[in-house]
Amino acid sequence: MSIELQHVHFRYPDGTLANEDLNLVIHEGERIAIVGQNGAGKTTAVKLMNGLHKPTEGEVIINGINTRNKSTAQISGMVGYVFQNPDDQIFKNTVRDEVEFWSRYNKLDEKEIQSRAEWAAKLCDIEKYLDINPYEIPYSTKKFVSIAAVLTARNPYLILDEPTAGQDVAGVECLSKLLHYMEQDGKSVITITHDMEFVADNFKRVVVMAHGHIIADGTPAEIFAEESILSEAKIKKPQICELSTRLGLGNIMKIETLVNKL
Ligand SMILES: Nc1ncnc2c1ncn2[C@@H]1O[C@H](COP(=O)(O)OP(=O)(O)OP(=O)(O)O)[C@@H](O)[C@H]1O
Ligand SMILES: [Mg+2]
Repeated sequence: MSIELQHVHFRYPDGTLANEDLNLVIHEGERIAIVGQNGAGKTTAVKLMNGLHKPTEGEVIINGINTRNKSTAQISGMVGYVFQNPDDQIFKNTVRDEVEFWSRYNKLDEKEIQSRAEWAAKLCDIEKYLDINPYEIPYSTKKFVSIAAVLTARNPYLILDEPTAGQDVAGVECLSKLLHYMEQDGKSVITITHDMEFVADNFKRVVVMAHGHIIADGTPAEIFAEESILSEAKIKKPQICELSTRLGLGNIMKIETLVNKL
């Protein structure tokens, strides 16, 4: 079971070629980070993975099913996508209605609706906002509302588009816990982020995009050791990695490892 991109190109109606010859396999249960500068084509690539976009050329295959032959609704049953901007996703008047929407739309029984909503709200630490209008809460919390809403569908693949943007330490910690939980549950999480500390702390596989292409795919240690990749994608090493390199200790990803070496 996997998400496969085979020679995928995507061109927007205005002629912008946003993705060029993407080739990628993500196995079910695998956790990956997608990084790269603004406009690199990350959001376009993940929208291809959940059927919001169909490739201009090439094929996207989800668990053996070609997205070309299916509706976005059919594909989004397998791949959940949390929008980069929560305002593009959230449309209900209370957080509770938003988090219960998927279950009600899919006519689950009342007990199941409640149980999924409570579970997702707890995982995203938004229980105290359930009766509030989503437009009255801060951006960072709203992002967790949009994550909780998608979680209730319990898809085998979950895409988070820049969940770390605007998060404080507690928010980033909540995201790390969520990634851990999803891994235990056998679910894939594909996360776009600009936060390289978050990448080094939470991921074993990193896909780097630049100018619509995938330019690298490897472990954080491999990626952060390649100056040419970092400069082409305009990404910065995590501080811990920068410091350990300057100290002549190579690319160290974890603070405990650096402390032990010192
Ligand atoms: N609806 C659209 N119509 C035309 N061009 C678009 C559209 N959406 C995105 N693009 C262009 O496609 C390219 C890739 O955009 P995309 O949003 O996929 O990048 P990204 O890596 O997600 O960037 P960011 O980090 O800013 O979110 C950019 O040149 C962007 O301007
Ligand atoms: Mg984007």
